[in-house]
Amino acid sequence: MCGIIAYKGNKNSTNIILNGLKILEYRGYDSWGVASKNDKIHIFKEIGKIGEINKINLPNAKIAIGHTRWATTGSITKENAHPHLSCDNKIAVVHNGIIENYEELKKNLKNHRFVSETDTEIIPHLIEENINLGLFEAVKKVANLLEGRSAFIVISEYSDDLIAVRKGAPLILGISNDEYFIASDIPAFLDYTKNVNYLDDNEMVVIKDNPTFFNFETGDEIKKRIITIEWDKEQARKGRYDHYLIKEIMEQKETINRAINQDESEIQKIANEINNAFGTFFVGCGTAGKVCHAGEYLYSKIAKKHINFVVASEFSNYKHFLTDKTLMIAVSQSGETADTIEAIETAKKQNVKVISLINVKGSSINQKSDYSLLINAGPEKAVASTKAATSQLALLLLLAYASANRLKEGKLLLIETAGMINDMLNLRYEEHIKRLAERIYENEHLYIIGKAANYPMALECAIKIQEISYMHAEGFAAGELKHGPIALIEKSTPCIILVANDETKKDVLVNAQELKTRGAYTIGISPEYNKIFDYWIKVPDAGDASPIVNIIPIQILSYHLALLRKHDPDLPRNLAKSVTVK
Ligand code: AGP
Ligand code: GLU
Repeated sequence: MCGIIAYKGNKNSTNIILNGLKILEYRGYDSWGVASKNDKIHIFKEIGKIGEINKINLPNAKIAIGHTRWATTGSITKENAHPHLSCDNKIAVVHNGIIENYEELKKNLKNHRFVSETDTEIIPHLIEENINLGLFEAVKKVANLLEGRSAFIVISEYSDDLIAVRKGAPLILGISNDEYFIASDIPAFLDYTKNVNYLDDNEMVVIKDNPTFFNFETGDEIKKRIITIEWDKEQARKGRYDHYLIKEIMEQKETINRAINQDESEIQKIANEINNAFGTFFVGCGTAGKVCHAGEYLYSKIAKKHINFVVASEFSNYKHFLTDKTLMIAVSQSGETADTIEAIETAKKQNVKVISLINVKGSSINQKSDYSLLINAGPEKAVASTKAATSQLALLLLLAYASANRLKEGKLLLIETAGMINDMLNLRYEEHIKRLAERIYENEHLYIIGKAANYPMALECAIKIQEISYMHAEGFAAGELKHGPIALIEKSTPCIILVANDETKKDVLVNAQELKTRGAYTIGISPEYNKIFDYWIKVPDAGDASPIVNIIPIQILSYHLALLRKHDPDLPRNLAKSVTVK
């Protein structure tokens, strides 16, 4: 995915674009670029992150577009950075997504000169090829030609119109007094307005003096209601923290309470749907996938109900088991993950009802679901998901309790857990974990074990450590080690043991002892001390909510490992906040 932004108004548009791009940078940071338009189009492009740059050398203009790239087609070069231009340099385009049929479309553009390897570049050339229809008609025609998920924004020397198209990738219009913003994510313009229009799929907006919306397939005009969003712009800032990641980890003092502050009758209704469904699938990717996997265990233990957990990218293999009595619970922070969207589309083809747990209102998954529960974690900017994950876990736990007809009890447990997390997240606690990071950051390998719902949490710990510290970390079901992976353990290999104070505890400690006997440096994440642990990180005894409290110290550990290994914890290499490609 990438971040795209546009501005039309009377302020200095390039500054607004630059600030917006910095906010959108979590969506992609291979390269970036801006185009501004007064009488002519002017372009600026750079490779790498925007970093501390505060000014770019472009003439002041009232219309501008910007892009921060996560390369999908074409390597990371200045030529491949957006905006891309037509042959006559009069049409500039920024694009988020993939054009699956670009090679085919390119064959019909033989007389055009291409300067990049990207799929995106065909858009300005296709518009140019059709410009005799007028800019609006040309863009509309091109929108219909593209296959795959995309959103793109066009400026041109042919008119002062700002035109944007949504075809499967997010796009939101921000409206202030006589000025307009278009971006792939709201925080990009939250400094200027909270009034927005969400574009739906297959819609385009044309901004002359006012915005007009169209369905580009039918050509019909669409009326939209302005929505005022509730996000606070301070929530989307780093504030006193050095990085978004640590800020978002610390926000878990409040986010669990916000997640469970739901209409109880709605929660009960969804829980009843799960109880009555003929097969329920929990589906998500990456961290959201691990949350779904933990949800499967929580449901089994608390509601005595079997749930099918499936990684979204594998969901199509289950299509033969779907009927109109099946239920899908799709979990996604961004609501834009392509694999999860595709799983929803597979489900929908078989008339499966889809309920989603999302953090971003108006996102594609929100729009495609029959019903969505918002986790209310506030904007999550760091690429590594933290507060969203624990909020999702809290909601699945609450649903499991509701399915067992024990909603009140579940809510009390989570309120208590939220209080314990609040007490736990202090500077002394962080210092204790930082000391552990200092001991192990030069190691090459790190292993994590857990059992039952803490097994997927061991896998989640591994993702956290891999993605921001680039250490080789691997999670295992505690009992599996002796079936092979234990061969990896050498003297002083750090091994993290996730312990819950329940029926799994004895077995996990036996497995921890097996590691220690082979020389491992054992790190216990546990409510109680045990002499097996070489290093102990105390967590509160949260009963069934133990996966929520156990993951938090590892989030902090990952942060400090990343800092000690001199990596940017917010913007890890090769990644983007949400993966909007397959
Ligand atoms: C989390 O730390 C990862 N960066 C990633 O696995 C993420 O959870 C996954 O891509 C799913 O994203 P989503 O929740 O926005 O759908
Ligand atoms: N496919 C386009 C490219 O590779 C856009 C990628 C993006 O969404 O960042 O340039």
